[in-house]
Parts: sequence; structure tokens; C-alpha cells
Amino acid sequence: MQFRTFTGNPVKSRTHCVVVGVHDKNNLSSSAERLDKTSRGYIKKVLARGDMSGAVGQTLLLQDVRGVQAPRVLLVGLGKARDLDTPRFLSILNSASQALAKTQTKQALICLLEIDVTDRSLAWTSQRLVERFLESTYRFTEMKGKPPKKPNSLTRVDLLVSPDDTEDVKDSIRLGEAVASGVTAHKNISNLPGNICTPTFMADAAKNLAKEYASITTKVLSEADMTKLGMGAFMAVSQGSDQPGKMIIMEHQGSAKADRPFVLVGKGITFDTGGISLKSNAGMADMIFDMCGAASVLGTMTTIAELNLPINVVGVIAAAENMPSGGATRPGDIVTSMSGQTIEILNTDAEGRLVLCDALTYIEKYNPVTVIDIATLTGAAIVALGSHASALFSNDDALARDMLDAGTATHDRAWRLPIWEDYQTALNSALADMQNVGGREASSIVAACFIARFTRKYRWAHLDIAATSFKSGGAKGATSRPVGLLTQYLIDRAREYGA
Ligand code: BES
Ligand code: ZN
Ligand code: MN
Repeated sequence: MQFRTFTGNPVKSRTHCVVVGVHDKNNLSSSAERLDKTSRGYIKKVLARGDMSGAVGQTLLLQDVRGVQAPRVLLVGLGKARDLDTPRFLSILNSASQALAKTQTKQALICLLEIDVTDRSLAWTSQRLVERFLESTYRFTEMKGKPPKKPNSLTRVDLLVSPDDTEDVKDSIRLGEAVASGVTAHKNISNLPGNICTPTFMADAAKNLAKEYASITTKVLSEADMTKLGMGAFMAVSQGSDQPGKMIIMEHQGSAKADRPFVLVGKGITFDTGGISLKSNAGMADMIFDMCGAASVLGTMTTIAELNLPINVVGVIAAAENMPSGGATRPGDIVTSMSGQTIEILNTDAEGRLVLCDALTYIEKYNPVTVIDIATLTGAAIVALGSHASALFSNDDALARDMLDAGTATHDRAWRLPIWEDYQTALNSALADMQNVGGREASSIVAACFIARFTRKYRWAHLDIAATSFKSGGAKGATSRPVGLLTQYLIDRAREYGA
């Protein structure tokens, strides 16, 4: 799908379909108004029949509208102009692209950038349009015996803009395309089942990224390397599996080598059975998504490499499989983490924090500007916030603010929860420096407090994406969140650093 700007007259465009918005029968968008004039009131006449009211998400396909060069006109409902906010605009984009996919249209002229969205700029609406149109064509068919026939999709999309805005919209197209490639990279790996997407598979994906982008270098630590480094917490998880664990390090060099990097660390449990603290069968199959944090690191690295973002970024993936076996960690085992702190593992199903804590000690050597870890860490995050917001925790108010802003900007929102010292007592252990779980209370916060004990040396934030990163049931699949938030956070930093 190729995007271009178009500054001509929509009536004269030789595209296959002109897409225009209507609020209601008495209130058309300016392009719809133009089409109505050309067709001597045909659009209003059709609307007056009442088959389409103009509510958000409604569409109506018209053929051979008199005076309009393109054979089709797609009317898209915009709802009331003053109610047109971010979620409504995004759903308008989805309905438009879905309606187009049902036709034989290969090329379309989209006249939706002329409408005002509350608190949003043209740069924003145009980037979202590109992202949503590209994302709406994504299908995960890798695991089908015979790949199903691809639905019709657009090859060329023209965006109607005024000549003054052309350059800005071209920038947004570039950004939107880069984000979409990160989203695709994320979904392609996170939708794979545990028997295929192993830690070794993830390491290969990261190595391929380095082959594809000159700015990226990938390094992989083996279990022997990690044992030598003293990563006893990571190994406590990985040792129960026949699949060897991997610590995967991707470095994107976008500025001087000596410049301090931004670091992302993703939980990459390729399957989480719970270990000896075995999960019940209900929902266990969803644990193929327990590497969505890692996939979001891979996706974000793809986007920033695609943009050649002028900052240094290190993406780390702590990849392991959590299995019960004769060699698995027993509840009650005590291990020593790379930081030297000892951990009493009371529940082997609280494994994410164990692989993360050693990765978070390992990256101290980079002297990072900020560190963000991303993890499907706790079921309690689903209970607390539902799927609308990822849970954010941070030891730094400015970092938390920047991340909340990036989430609002991309509509990939997060909500901050506290990590007060008061919660730390839940992790007190009689025998070791800490235990890996608390009680039933505030278990997302307690998990974050556990990680906080390993991140005291730098500005750090933690995103618990258990609720936001995937859907289960009939719509089973990865959502690609928080690739949007993370890429925006890094794009904002690159701008701030004046590069
Ligand atoms: N991967 C799970 C968390 C999870 C649950 C993610 C459901 C997505 C959907 C994690 O490893 C886990 O098992 N967490 C435990 C922690 C508990 C033992 C303190 C949980 O949330 O129950
Ligand atoms: Zn897990
Ligand atoms: Mn678990």
C-alpha cells in the first residue's frame, strides 16, 4: 500500500473510489459538499432517504455518481462534529478501510484529513490514518495449512490535503509507515505458538534485524554466558526447560558511539506453564503471548531503525521457557541474582520478574539515559485496569510523565500506579534478601516493587501489559501494544535532543 498526497479536485480524480465524510444529512464535510454540488444534490438526496444517518462507523457505497470521475464514492459517517474525538476518529478510519476492503477498489482518494478532531493536529490525524490503514490489512496466516486467499487490499492511497500541508503530511506518512512495520514485526513473532517461537527463534529474529538494518548490531548470550555472569535468577526459570534460554541484545546506533543510550528490556517467556507452581488449564494456552513484551522491543527496534532515529537505543530480550521438569526450580529454592541479592522463589509462576531482574542488572553497564521494561507480568493488571490501559510504574516522575504523554499521543494509553516503600514489606523473606511473591494484595504493584530493587541506579519505568498486549478467544491475537507508546516516547526524545 503506497501513500501519496493529492492536492487536486476530488471530483476530477481518476482513482477507483473517493472517500468522504458526512456528519448528517444537513451537514456534509467540505469534500462531500463538493461532490454534492457536482452531482446536483445527489448525495443529500440519498442521505434524505435515511439509509445512512451519518453516525460514526456507518458507511454507504455509491456507484457512478454523476459528474464525479471516480466510479465509486464511499460515504463515511462522522457523527456530530463537536463530538469527534480520538476514539471516534480511529473507529471512522477502521470502518472506512473495512468498507473499502469489501470492494474491488485498488486505489482510493481519502478526503478525511479535512475534518477536525478534538485536540489533534493534521500531523496526528494523517499519521494515524496511515497506521490504521496499513494495520487493517494485517492477517496472521503463517500457521494455516493452505494460506487463505488474501482479501482485496489497496495498492495506492491518495490523501487529499491543501498544498501548504503537503510536506507535513509526507512526514506523517513516513512515520506512519515506520510504525506499521514495527507493528507487523511485533505481530508476526508474538502470534506464533510456543513450539515454534522458542528463545532460539527469538534470537534468530533479532539477528535478522541486524542483517536488515545497518544501524543495528545483535549479540546473544547463551546459558553458559549467563551462568558465568551470575544470572542465577534468570537461570532458575530457564533450567526447567529443554529449550536453552537466551539473553538477546540489540543495539541501534543513531548518534555518536559515546552517547548514552535509551534502554528497553522485554519479558520474553516463550511459554509460561507456571513451572512446578503449575497453572490450571484455563487460559494456559494464552501464555504463548508471555513474550509480548519482548516482541514490543523487537517491533520498536524495527521502527526506530526504519526511521534511523538519531539516538542510541539498546533493546534487550530476556528469553526463556517456564516449564516443570526434574531440573526445574522448586518452590522454596533460594537463588542469587546477578546483583548479588538473594531471592527465595516461593512461586515459580512469578517468573517474569526473575528473568527481568538479571537483564536489568546487566544493562547497568550502558549507563542508560532511561530504562523501560515491558512485561506481561501479572494477571492482577487485567483486574485493575482492564484492556484500555497498560499499568505504568516508575522511580522518576519526569520519565513517567513523558511516557503517559506518549501513550496519550498515540492512543496507546498507560495509567500510573504507585510503588511506595510501604508495599515492599510484602516481599520480606525470613531466609533470603527477598521472596519473589507477596500475598493476594496489590500483586501488580508488589511485582513492580520487586523489579524496583534492581533498578535503583538509573531512571526506570515498568509497563505491565498483561491486559493490553493480546486478545484471547475468537479474536485471539497480539495487539502490538505498546509499540505505539514506545516509538512515540523515543521519537519525542530524539526531537528533544535536538538531533
Ligand atoms: N505471565 C503471567 C501473567 C499473566 C497472566 C499475563 C494472565 C497475561 C495474562 C505471570 O508470569 C504470572 O503467572 N503471574 C502471576 C504472579 C503471581 C504468582 C504472583 C499471576 O499474575 O497470577
Ligand atoms: Zn509469565
Ligand atoms: Mn507466570
